[in-house]
Amino acid sequence: MKVTVVGAGGNVGSTTALALAERDFAKEVILVDIERKEGDKTFYPSKGRALDQWQTAPVLSFDTKLTGTVDYEDTANSDVCVITAGVPRKPGMSRDDLLSINGNIVKEVTEKLIEKSPDTIIIVVSNPLDVMTYVAYAASKLDPKKVMGMAGILDTARYRAFLAEELNVSPKDIQAMLMGGHGDTMVPLPRYTTVSGIPVTQFIDDERLNEIVERTKSGGGELVGLMGTSAWYAPGVATAQMVEAIMLDQNRIFPCAAYCDGEFGINDLFIGVPVKLGKGGIKEIVEIDLNDEEKELLRASEKAVRTTLDDYNKLMD
Ligand code: NAI
Ligand code: 2OP
Repeated sequence: MKVTVVGAGGNVGSTTALALAERDFAKEVILVDIERKEGDKTFYPSKGRALDQWQTAPVLSFDTKLTGTVDYEDTANSDVCVITAGVPRKPGMSRDDLLSINGNIVKEVTEKLIEKSPDTIIIVVSNPLDVMTYVAYAASKLDPKKVMGMAGILDTARYRAFLAEELNVSPKDIQAMLMGGHGDTMVPLPRYTTVSGIPVTQFIDDERLNEIVERTKSGGGELVGLMGTSAWYAPGVATAQMVEAIMLDQNRIFPCAAYCDGEFGINDLFIGVPVKLGKGGIKEIVEIDLNDEEKELLRASEKAVRTTLDDYNKLMD
């Protein structure tokens, strides 16, 4: 089993690579990034990160070989490719600048990956997530079941961690589902949140639960405010969990950005929905029942994602 992570000289990609190696099910993990030139020096972050991580193997006790490269030839015949390549939004950069820069990177990276691994499965992490997943889908021409975005596992992990702290219970015992785009229109679903199967509403009043839902929606921004850049530990391990579910055919039910073709009344859009992940990618989108309020929130989120996709398409015209 072979996994490639592009953008792995950076924070999320390198964390994904190490989390995969620690799980020790893949034969090899290939870390791809670009060369970085500073003055007369050239640096190879993917090679450096891979070498450093491979040197953890004797201590962490895994066999998965980590290799860094700038050459897509080394990615040939990957079972799963993860795309974390991109730039974070910098001061002075507009949302449209970010859309076109990351859109061009994701498109280029996808085409290079597909040339070497035409049957691969692609997991996109780069932001804006739902639209970048669409870009990879369009560039790859893969079956939509083989293209997906990581955000929902991260967003539910934040929600579960906040709840565990609030209720003084193990985070392992909080189960939750969340839908919609990766942004402040995401739709955490308290009706589908339990503590070991017991509805969360038996542990917390509506007002406090709503505060936790709101904190979850701005969870990415809270971390940017603390660190000056976006998070990587939780995003990295969440991505590794998706790769594992696919490679080990685990049939896990996760919220992931998936291509909707009528599900939940959404057409021709990638957006966060509950999916069954296993061999071959997305085995099904699980169409859970939503009440009127939840449907309305999902519509608003769909609208926000579609507006960003339309903006991207206009920029690329
Ligand atoms: P980073 O800046 O640490 O890493 C990005 C890497 O991409 C850099 O090493 C850069 O050299 C590389 N890169 C740029 N152009 C490339 C190209 N053409 N080919 C190969 N590599 C290229 O950024 P970080 O923190 O790792 O974030 C990566 C992306 O993931 C960002 O777009 C960020 O917004 C997004 N993100 C998404 C999350 C989600 O839930 N979906 C969560 C956290 C981050
Ligand atoms: C996050 O949610 C910024 O998407 C990134 O941490």
